[in-house]
Amino acid sequence: MKRSFKRTIPIDIAEPGMVLAKDVYSAKDQVLLRSGTELDQRHLDKLQAFNIEHLCIWQPLSDELSDEEIQQLKAEENARRTCIEAVEIVKQVMSDVRMGDSLDLPKVRQTVSELCTQLIQDDRVLRYIDNLYAYDEYTFAHSIQVSVFTIILGKALHTPRPALEDIGTGGMLHDIGKTRVPLELLNLPRQYTAEEFAIMRNHPQYGEEILRETNGVPEIVIRMAGEHHERYNGTGYFRGLKGDQIHPYSQITALADVYDAMTTTRTYRPALLPQQAVEFLLTGVGSFFNPDLCHLFIKHVAIFPVGCVVQLTNGLIGKILEVDEKLPTRPVVGIIGKTKLMRITEIIDLRRRPDLLVARVVPQSELLAIKGVWPSAKQV
Ligand SMILES: [Fe+2]
Repeated sequence: MKRSFKRTIPIDIAEPGMVLAKDVYSAKDQVLLRSGTELDQRHLDKLQAFNIEHLCIWQPLSDELSDEEIQQLKAEENARRTCIEAVEIVKQVMSDVRMGDSLDLPKVRQTVSELCTQLIQDDRVLRYIDNLYAYDEYTFAHSIQVSVFTIILGKALHTPRPALEDIGTGGMLHDIGKTRVPLELLNLPRQYTAEEFAIMRNHPQYGEEILRETNGVPEIVIRMAGEHHERYNGTGYFRGLKGDQIHPYSQITALADVYDAMTTTRTYRPALLPQQAVEFLLTGVGSFFNPDLCHLFIKHVAIFPVGCVVQLTNGLIGKILEVDEKLPTRPVVGIIGKTKLMRITEIIDLRRRPDLLVARVVPQSELLAIKGVWPSAKQV
């Protein structure tokens, strides 16, 4: 029997002939199509009419894929699915709160627990899910990214599981106060005026209030929402706390918040490259950010480890061979080019090439597409 693989894809790349690997439900929990259905155009039209955004399909696997490659694809696919589902949950929870309903804490906690389980096993894949923002509005995907980064940092600090879940919950809910800011303001396609910013600045305080009104929210989660715009030197908001007055987990949330905002494309500016974002964080060491936590954050989140496959700003693809602790953003990269053979053809030492930077991590699915053993059209 031909091997196949469960793959989550956006509906706009679904085609007649694909076979569903999971039931599809409407927003009201009605089954629209059953797992095993071979899609035809009529099905696709129906799903689009119900505003279904993603489908899980059976993707046939090429015989050329090794078991190890399949394992890596599975890990990447699990991470992608977990993130997509988490974004959907946050979107729903935040919309409920905006409408005046209470915060569904158990749902958030369950999502965080799934993220923790994956990140404890292996945090490499989840942090490189870089296309989350294609799926949804910024606030929801940003909440998931911040949650992932705070859990990675919590893990680096050897935080036990229950506290790790609290950190992840605080990361996910850090901007819950934005549900009390008018939507028109939240989705403005430009930077804020001073007046608009004055309204936005209330969101940490609103966040604290919402979380205090909800039963069972741990104190640390409330603090992370209330303190994530405080700065180490006291220049943040809304209380103007400084140094140790700001909980370390709130300080981690601040780093994750700033780093993710900078490395994400917004309607009014392009994304910064990881190294540029690191350089920005470094300029804030000792002023905006606690030096120890900032260096820890950079080491665990922003630096790509040996073995990771990256694309450089000149378009070349290569494997990281060596990372210099003193210049961690300028690794030695073994170029494998965009050829099927994946052999290292050239070694580039970025310490000697100030004209080049690491642009992004290349997912396994994309590498396999270059090798010609995985669909290359519109990577998901
Ligand atoms: Fe915020």
